[in-house]
Amino acid sequence: MDVLEAIRTRRSIGKVDGEVTAEDLRALVEAALCAPNHKLTDPFRFIALRGEARARLGAAWGAIVARMTPPPGVEAEAFIAKEARKPLRAPLLLVAVTRVETDPVVAEEDAAATAAAIQNVLLAAHGLGLGAIWRTGAMVRDPAVAAHLGVAENERIAGIVYLGRPAMAPPASLPRDIDRHLTLIE
Ligand SMILES: Cc1cc2nc3c(=O)[nH]c(=O)nc-3n(C[C@H](O)[C@H](O)[C@H](O)COP(=O)(O)O)c2cc1C
Repeated sequence: MDVLEAIRTRRSIGKVDGEVTAEDLRALVEAALCAPNHKLTDPFRFIALRGEARARLGAAWGAIVARMTPPPGVEAEAFIAKEARKPLRAPLLLVAVTRVETDPVVAEEDAAATAAAIQNVLLAAHGLGLGAIWRTGAMVRDPAVAAHLGVAENERIAGIVYLGRPAMAPPASLPRDIDRHLTLIE
């Protein structure tokens, strides 16, 4: 697939199933490592979860959620069970971890490089015929989740890419108003 075509046709695919091969997983991480990275600080790494590891993350997250107030009208038990099932929404979860340096400029540029790496993963997944979605939410910001996954004090989870075989049609393209987003100065 041509690069521009891949960029134009990629969409978040929230429903996935099947398997992601070990070869595809390595290709996705290789694509991530091709991202631009100022001063080559190498700020990102990836934790791949599949099989029972997803359920263990769900159980850890469920235990955290059990201490939260459920949304109005939702029973605590149903709320906890729904949250605990979240990591099971895809056969492979790729947790993108970024280092957070004390220098704010380096931290900002490292976060930008990690976002570029995640976009590379999404585009590579699309090229490989996989469905993918970059998710964040409360789970990625919770220190106990970070501890469960072995994310260090000087690291942060930038997102979790849920990957698998597409199990839904891609959503319609979003409007792209080039003129509203482009200022040309000559
Ligand atoms: C930083 C970031 C965080 C995101 N977090 C979520 C999320 O928690 N849940 C979700 O459904 N989608 C999430 N998304 C996906 C966006 O909702 C999606 O990219 C957007 O709706 C545009 O759709 P597209 O990816 O199909 O173009 C996130 C995207 C980014 C860049």
